Amino acid sequence: MSSVALRPSPPVLSLIGRTPLVPLHFPADGLTLFAKAEFLNPSGSIKDRLALTIVDDAEARGLLRADSIIVECTSGNTGIALAMVGAAKGHRVKILMSESASVERRHLLRQLGAEVELFAATGGYATGIELAREMAARDPRIFLPCQFENPLNALDHEQHTGREILERMHGRVDAFVAGYGTGGTLAGCGRALVAANPDVKIIAMEPAEAAMLSGECPCCHFIEGIAGGYVPPLLREAQIDSIVKVSSADALAMTRRLAREHGLLVGTSSGANVVAALQVARELGPESRVATVLCDRAERYYSTRLFAECDGDGCEVTAPLR
Ligand SMILES: Cc1ncc(COP(=O)(O)O)c(C=O)c1O
Repeated sequence: MSSVALRPSPPVLSLIGRTPLVPLHFPADGLTLFAKAEFLNPSGSIKDRLALTIVDDAEARGLLRADSIIVECTSGNTGIALAMVGAAKGHRVKILMSESASVERRHLLRQLGAEVELFAATGGYATGIELAREMAARDPRIFLPCQFENPLNALDHEQHTGREILERMHGRVDAFVAGYGTGGTLAGCGRALVAANPDVKIIAMEPAEAAMLSGECPCCHFIEGIAGGYVPPLLREAQIDSIVKVSSADALAMTRRLAREHGLLVGTSSGANVVAALQVARELGPESRVATVLCDRAERYYSTRLFAECDGDGCEVTAPLR
């Protein structure tokens, strides 16, 4: 087997990272949050960073060959990011995705040339991870990025996302708040921020309906991309000072507010992060400097509750959407 003939670095990849940090003003609360606009990455989410780092590393170590297939279990964003990096670099990509992930994600994956295999949502991420392992055991062409365990995931956020936050906030960060899927963002940014200031508070956001870090049983929630019924290994060693639970209803309401009051078209986990970050900032006081992450774009959620018909202020769901 020959190694892939590498092309010069594709231009789209130079658009990854160095995202802006936007101040989010909440005048009624007298508070300003600082939100890392990760939805501005080229494939639309925070996962572009991880996809590029893992594929670059695999190429450098000779793990990707001409006939290799990159296989990953993902809630969609990592898949889209891997499909984008794979398309740009000329690698075949196959994505295992829960059937509960929004249909827009499937379309985007296929548009980028990736193959998509769905698995039942009932077992959560664990089902897809097991499926990927079984496939790799049968087929030596398969390369598994293993985003849930790969230390490069958190390392990349430590060396880049976390440091970018520190740089833009001139090192003055009182708290960092983020939800977890793989835990890479929380663990990696947390490490960078704590290394710069041991007093910074690292706060995990999780759905109130699936508060597994809080020791509760996972139940169904509507904050796509986080808390997949699994406490990820990357999070087990992470420093977490406290946990904020956010209900799906509050996450959806804030995501709509971010669009209508701030002009930010982002996904539901971004709204959930902002709900939790506001709660933390209220506790720390009006001068506090709380950072969080806007993880992905709203366009990824057309078929979900986020875009359901609104009924007055309550944005009641009027269609049988997920
Ligand atoms: C929309 C969304 N938000 C948040 C996250 C959580 O990021 P991480 O995997 O770094 O914990 C993910 C992960 O896939 C995601 O897709």
